[in-house]
Amino acid sequence: MVLVVGATGLLGSEICRSLRKAGKQVRAMVRKTSSPEKLEGLRSAGVDTVAADLKDPSSLARACETVSEIITTASSTFSRQEGDSIASVDHAGYVALIDAASKAGVRHFVYTSIPLDMRFDSPLVQAKRAVEDRLTRGGVPYTVLAGNFFMEVWLSPALGFDYQNSRARVYGSGERPIAWVSYRDVAAFAVASLDCSAAQNRVLSIGGPENLAPLEVVRIFSETCGRPFGTTHVPEAALRADYDSAAEPLGKSFASLMLQYASGCSMDPSETLSVMPRTLKTVREYAVEVARQ
Ligand SMILES: NC(=O)c1ccc[n+]([C@@H]2O[C@H](COP(=O)([O-])OP(=O)(O)OC[C@H]3O[C@@H](n4cnc5c(N)ncnc54)[C@H](OP(=O)(O)O)[C@@H]3O)[C@@H](O)[C@H]2O)c1
Repeated sequence: MVLVVGATGLLGSEICRSLRKAGKQVRAMVRKTSSPEKLEGLRSAGVDTVAADLKDPSSLARACETVSEIITTASSTFSRQEGDSIASVDHAGYVALIDAASKAGVRHFVYTSIPLDMRFDSPLVQAKRAVEDRLTRGGVPYTVLAGNFFMEVWLSPALGFDYQNSRARVYGSGERPIAWVSYRDVAAFAVASLDCSAAQNRVLSIGGPENLAPLEVVRIFSETCGRPFGTTHVPEAALRADYDSAAEPLGKSFASLMLQYASGCSMDPSETLSVMPRTLKTVREYAVEVARQ
């Protein structure tokens, strides 16, 4: 039985579907507040559910019963309920889950993290690094997937990349490359890592197939959609000022991600691909997909 923590989210729900397609028994951690449509989607894919919350250690012990493997994607950054915070969920909640997994004799714990060389410190960066540290200190075999910027999130209207109206908001100069990765590839690596002994007790960087500057991405979208895109820039100095002045943990964490985008985030996927070979989705393929919509 594989427990998926974060199963109602973008990445976690894709992981649940992929695990079911691979014939695995799946238990999704859900909450009383989780959206009924998402719960129905999981159940209709043949996923069992267990009510638990990362803030409630006793619920984690129950969720881990009879579980052999855990894949985690949960985060309080976008989907938060009362009492959820980076400290209570992304940090303390994960430490409690690792303890519960260790006590339950879980054989493999897959953790979704962020790039290893994040240059701008924040509560989210500290929480991710603390959980990686807890995992690497032992108790349960692990795989850390250090994911780059998801193209479906950062190149979407929600973050100002408004391809429907041919307008792109770019953070910083747009000249520094990023290894944009599809969340579907991240999901595929998470699922593949369960049956890959070479992925155990490894921290693997998960980037896309190319390092592309945001302005190159805009050019690709413009070519693919067959129309020019208007570009507005959020100056790096403004991002820096937001980061320096942010006092609240979530605001500081988002500001650090924006600054990282502006500074670039290249990756070489070859080590990960040597462990788990796969053809990665390109930004152009993503652009073709959205242009058809
Ligand atoms: N977006 C990127 O570019 C990027 C890049 C690298 C890494 N990542 C990482 O990828 C992971 C997945 O991202 P995503 O986009 O799939 O996130 P998402 O859609 O916001 O999903 C978050 C999930 O966490 C769950 N959750 C939040 N608080 C919880 C709690 N207290 N107890 C149990 N579950 C809780 C949510 O459940 P409810 O539905 O019940 O609220 C939801 O299922 C995150 O860890 C993120 O840091 C993202």
